[in-house]
Amino acid sequence: MRNLLEIQDLSVQEIDDLIRVAKDIMAHPEKYSEACHGKKLATLFFEPSTRTRLSFEAAMYELGGHVLSVPGASLSSATKGESVADTARVVSCYADIIAMRHPKEGAPFVAATHSDIPIINAGDGGHNHPTQTLADLLTIHLEKGGFDNLTVGLCGDLRYGRTVHSLIQALSRYHGVRFVLIAPEELRLPDYLIQDVLKPNHIPFVETQNLEEVIPTLDILYMTRVQGERFSDVATYERLKDSYILTADKLESAKKDLAILHPLPRVNEISVAVDTDARACYFKQVRNGKYMREALILKLLGLSEAPGEEKRDMSNVEETDYVCRNPHCIITTEQELPHLFRKEKGTLRCLYCDQPYDL
Ligand code: NCD
Repeated sequence: MRNLLEIQDLSVQEIDDLIRVAKDIMAHPEKYSEACHGKKLATLFFEPSTRTRLSFEAAMYELGGHVLSVPGASLSSATKGESVADTARVVSCYADIIAMRHPKEGAPFVAATHSDIPIINAGDGGHNHPTQTLADLLTIHLEKGGFDNLTVGLCGDLRYGRTVHSLIQALSRYHGVRFVLIAPEELRLPDYLIQDVLKPNHIPFVETQNLEEVIPTLDILYMTRVQGERFSDVATYERLKDSYILTADKLESAKKDLAILHPLPRVNEISVAVDTDARACYFKQVRNGKYMREALILKLLGLSEAPGEEKRDMSNVEETDYVCRNPHCIITTEQELPHLFRKEKGTLRCLYCDQPYDL
């Protein structure tokens, strides 16, 4: 049985295969219209969502399957104090596969350890969002023909933007990719991604606050929303929320074949006038997400190919007496979770949320 909890759960070969299947579904949807006949997808969304939930549900319908859905967290037993582990156990009695979104980082991982059916992480706090990355990767593949040697600008809230974290982990595995990280000081990329992903893999990257200065160098510009819901302090959010606004003027110096992506929802990071620019890809990205989710559901249900082995390395994981200090970690709310940390080179990192623990 396989889950998709973080994008590294898929090998490069598997991502290539998903892209190939998604393109085939786009070209021949009728071939797949009964592929999930009799199968049920449960969508468990404990955080707001429009496109991700509808995208999963539309994907399952297009495959001829059924969808079970709790309309919103406020209507589920989570409000009665049910743990993520119990919810996963219960729902796995009704469905064949679960797509879960949760505000706590590591919640889908906890669900996966208690479920008999595959769990797909549809976004956990400010941590990961691997299926948005699948949508992003298909979009880049369609626009650029591949991933090698791209200069990728990521702009906005790189600290809490979970889509950015998963996209960096995915693109870091391709040859010659270079990142330009554009963010205000307070919203810089979390250090664990720099220390564990960019540096050890020798991925060239620069950090800057100035979008205009770097825009001419980019092949991809990935804009993001400042994630207001993750701030503990409203004043800081108010000060940072308009940090970057992409306008037609700023795009004048950009490459003619730049691809502009955004996971959406947009607040005001991209002015509406940019929508008619041929380089704007964010609405195509939405459509691409549905096809990649179809390909993923087929894979995890073992309907397109064998689902493959779980690849998570648990060799350096230890149970400790330490308590993760990240207020967004699932450990803060879930009952009786073991305090698991990954131990590497004298550092401890929470297994659920990836945040370092300073001894
Ligand atoms: C993103 C998310 O939920 O992280 N949205 C999405 O799934 N398309 C981005 C965001 O909310 O800003």
